[in-house]
Amino acid sequence: TTVDVDDADYELSGYASFMHKEISEQPEALRRALLGRLDERFATARLGGINLDARALRSIRRVKFLGCGSAYYAGQLGANLVEEWARLPADAEPASEFRYRNPVVEEDTLYVAVSQSGETADTLAAVQELRRKGGRVIGAVNVVGSAIGRECGSGVFLHAGPEVSVASTKAYTNMGACFAMLALLLGRVRDLSVSDGARIVAALSELPDKIAEVLEAEDAIAEVAEKHSTAERMFYIGRVRTWPTAREGAQKLKEISYVHAEAYQAAELKHGPLALIDATMPSVVLIPDDELLTKNLATIEQIKARGGPVIAVTNAELPNGLADSVIRVPRSEPELDPILFTVPLQIFAYHLARQLGRDIDKPRNLAKSVTVE
Ligand code: AGP
Repeated sequence: TTVDVDDADYELSGYASFMHKEISEQPEALRRALLGRLDERFATARLGGINLDARALRSIRRVKFLGCGSAYYAGQLGANLVEEWARLPADAEPASEFRYRNPVVEEDTLYVAVSQSGETADTLAAVQELRRKGGRVIGAVNVVGSAIGRECGSGVFLHAGPEVSVASTKAYTNMGACFAMLALLLGRVRDLSVSDGARIVAALSELPDKIAEVLEAEDAIAEVAEKHSTAERMFYIGRVRTWPTAREGAQKLKEISYVHAEAYQAAELKHGPLALIDATMPSVVLIPDDELLTKNLATIEQIKARGGPVIAVTNAELPNGLADSVIRVPRSEPELDPILFTVPLQIFAYHLARQLGRDIDKPRNLAKSVTVE
């Protein structure tokens, strides 16, 4: 399949910026990524482009995602899903580091090169290093016919459609969904049960509608962004599943608003960064209603006790007055929260940057695709 949107025809169509347009397009972009790839009958995913049959999938002992910037954070989200569903050790590494540390390349590792543009020089060089050492590498690429897609030869297209804004949005959520399908597939050739597989297939098919629900809350999120737009620095707090989401949220804010944002794992705060908290430093805290809820609520208390404003992003019922601002997220299956929680963070960053009068689509010092080392 190819992307059914013609790049040449891709215009603002009434939107104030491409970023806003691309945020809004996420439900349809996600539907394209899922189209024909969810198999309800066998409660699994079909990813023909990776060219790996059940035997080859079963021979994989480890999965490593390589990408830069947001593509790296999406890889981290993917690695978490592979570990959770396929029970295979998995991790992500910045592709920009990979070739410089003379990496050990293992035969039974599946390497996934992640890139929206398919032209990022560091990611391409990582793929070339892998091929030179005989590693098994597939691409997760948006632009069909791009250098990384061609070099990998097999993989999964993201089908997000053209992405013009420097800050990646719909490509990121589609990366998340494609990695969820890869993890589901790897899980189902191992010990992931039919009932879990079916639960995941159903949740993935509902994800575009859940994202549409988040988009409907845009005005409320914009208000929260405006309320906190004088802050010069912010923390983004996540843990375990939502840790990559916190990193991606902080990345979005930095890129387009130039407000310093740093992501931390909730439990790491007390090992140093709590010293930075005061009334001028808001924390965006991701609180999914999962097994870590009570621990996350305790994190909010720690921040409040130091006078720090809290912006809670949550699908749980929080005690009244606990957070200074609340951004509500619809419920999905907990494993998909990291994808869903990304969308309000994009909207938050977008409106905060607008409030500050930034050039949203072309932030200073940045290029859409980094084709130099
Ligand atoms: C995302 O908002 C950034 N602009 C940046 O981190 C980007 O994800 C990175 O440069 C990788 O680009 P790619 O996906 O095209 O390889």
